[in-house]
Amino acid sequence: MKSKRSLVLLVLILTGYMNSIGAEIKNGRTAEKVDSLLSKMTLAEKIGQLNLYAGGWEFTGPVPADANNQQKYEMIKSGGVGAMLNVLTADGTREAQKLAVENSRLGIPLLIGYDVIHGYQTMMPIPLGQAASWEAEVARQGAQVAAREASASGVNWTFAPMMDIVRDARWGRMMESPGEDPYLASYMSKAWVEGFQGGDLSNPETIAACAKHFAAYGFAEAGRDYNTVDISMQTLYNMVLPPFKTASDAGVASFMNSFNEIGGVPANGSEMLQRKLLKGEWNYQGFVVSDWGSIGEMITHGYAADTLEAGYKALTAGSDMDMEARVYENSLEALVTSEKIDMSVLDDAVRRVLTIKYDLGLFDDPYRYCDADREKKELLSKENLRIAREAARKSIVLLKNENNLLPLSKKGQTIAVIGSLAGSKDVPLGSWRAQAITNSAVSLVEGIQNAVDKKTQVTFTNGYNLTQGNREFIRELNIVEGDQSDFSNAIELAKKSDVVVLALGEDCWQSGEGRSQTDIGLKGDQMDLMYELLKVNKNIVVTLMNGRSLAIPELDENIPAILEVWHLGSEAGNAIADVLFGDYNPSGKLPVSFPRNVGQCPIYYNHKNGGRPVTNPHDAGMVFWSHYTDSPNSPLYPFGYGLSYTSFEYSDLSISTTEMGTSDRLTASVKVKNTGDKTGQETVQLYIRDYVGSVTRPVKELKGFEKVQLEPGEERVVKFTISNETLSYYRADLSFGSEPGKFAVMIGGNSQKTLTTDFRLVD
Ligand code: NOJ
Repeated sequence: MKSKRSLVLLVLILTGYMNSIGAEIKNGRTAEKVDSLLSKMTLAEKIGQLNLYAGGWEFTGPVPADANNQQKYEMIKSGGVGAMLNVLTADGTREAQKLAVENSRLGIPLLIGYDVIHGYQTMMPIPLGQAASWEAEVARQGAQVAAREASASGVNWTFAPMMDIVRDARWGRMMESPGEDPYLASYMSKAWVEGFQGGDLSNPETIAACAKHFAAYGFAEAGRDYNTVDISMQTLYNMVLPPFKTASDAGVASFMNSFNEIGGVPANGSEMLQRKLLKGEWNYQGFVVSDWGSIGEMITHGYAADTLEAGYKALTAGSDMDMEARVYENSLEALVTSEKIDMSVLDDAVRRVLTIKYDLGLFDDPYRYCDADREKKELLSKENLRIAREAARKSIVLLKNENNLLPLSKKGQTIAVIGSLAGSKDVPLGSWRAQAITNSAVSLVEGIQNAVDKKTQVTFTNGYNLTQGNREFIRELNIVEGDQSDFSNAIELAKKSDVVVLALGEDCWQSGEGRSQTDIGLKGDQMDLMYELLKVNKNIVVTLMNGRSLAIPELDENIPAILEVWHLGSEAGNAIADVLFGDYNPSGKLPVSFPRNVGQCPIYYNHKNGGRPVTNPHDAGMVFWSHYTDSPNSPLYPFGYGLSYTSFEYSDLSISTTEMGTSDRLTASVKVKNTGDKTGQETVQLYIRDYVGSVTRPVKELKGFEKVQLEPGEERVVKFTISNETLSYYRADLSFGSEPGKFAVMIGGNSQKTLTTDFRLVD
């Protein structure tokens, strides 16, 4: 038995070794090919490889004055463009690719990029929702589906995953982020990268991924998109950078830098981030693309005087590709010929771009990703929709369930479904919806109708109307205020029904890029309607559709059951019905804190203690503590929070030693018991606290979690290993390591409710 195991181990080691030798040989060959091609390229052709322009199919940034394709086609033909974004369909991308391959002197194929963020045509839950699943498979499979669909349509590069840490719900792009915690964000981001890229980029069903936005874009002051960022190096290293480091280690093909400045330097011009850290210390071999127009925006920031200076600063700092700023097109030739920029700097950038093109197999067959037959079969396939439904139900978080109002019975009752969001087949598709077909999602009311038996009566009315007019990616929404014309219908239905399912929340175009808000409550007439309905029926289940954490204290106070359902994608209605009727026992946990009011933003669980925290009851009523006079400090629902239709009890927290050396490992274990009457899943979370550091440390940091499924009455001991690495962080001098002293271990079902014990780390 033992020798068999050793043999298996030996085979595994040998296979790993052979694979790594294989990869090295392949990389060596690719490098030779790249160098040989590079040696044939003119200066103009090299610069061309660094230009990324948008096709006129769609705009995901300020529409350029010269938005016509014809002029860009001519540039492609002359070898002046290395990559396109927003060129769509298998046939459309084939045409664009043909222009490059058949007309330019060297026939170098194009990268075709697109924002495939949470799906291409089959939509998955928004990334924030996926993060609520705390499950790598949800991210991995969703990205695989997206890659299969996008690649059939000619896309070979996605601008995802976004891994920005977000603490402020005013920022609309919270929907696109994995939330407020670096550990969870790293875990999800790695799975997204693996899902998009698979093990082999040349597989035509995988696409190159892009880790974005490098870095700290989520820390925009006051939550206002594109605003200044000003954070400490410790926050940058310990909170913002970990998912990027994980993505770099996972072999993500590209990075996108960010619109913001950090410490007065726009990310495009940051040598510290791009040259020193990413390409230096992390030895990252992929390329860095700038965000839309952002190299040119260095002039607006006041960091470059003109195009020439912007081009100089961006390329030398390590921004390899220019998205839609046209700065490289208009500056690099002069900069290189005047020897202000050395040819080797340009070559390094071009080499990185060409390498990914080789890795994608584009030089073997530039049309491998433009497959009209596969496109027909792949888009919205049954299997893809099945995965979307599975992902969607795992992303739902049960926030409240007084008197076990949920799950509802499917049999013989009258259910009033109320709210224009419940009837919408569009809102669930989310904000970054790529090629989703308008109105193609399963609405909540459809999902409920699909689930119930014939004797159940389901009625529906809008109640409120949230928006009017254009609903588009590039335009602001008009929120409807003061239209209560359907209230009386809604009240009538609620009166006659056993239970009301009330959909509240946000339109999908309220969150996403450029959609910051100063009010993160429920807009329009939603709250008024809720109070009217409560007068006639107390059995109200609220399903909250939104792309950010919302401030909903009045819901928490008045509504017995609340489900957070985000914007869940193509299968939203079916997935919500799965949870409403108990076919799926909710298992999601919040990836962000839900504030009580917007004034608490930014709010996050892994904050510092400060010198005057509110800890003693004795302090109540006194002003000299870090507090608000009109609100508690704590969030309404904390990070990691989420209920189930069963209940879990934590006990017997124990640690294997109370003193651990830096080369030791400590085991922390806890007993978790299902004390309810239904099978359920619980995400057991491990937090630590480093009490004293060379710089102050957060009061709590997630360091591990495990999902367990338990039958009623079943109990399980869950164990976590704590090593020196678990306790390490970027210290005062930014070196990574631990510091001896006292630590707390906290284990529980959310960041607020944990069992705690202490130990010491000794040298
Ligand atoms: C701007 C966004 O910030 C970025 O995330 C996106 O990939 C590009 N536009 C391209 O659409």
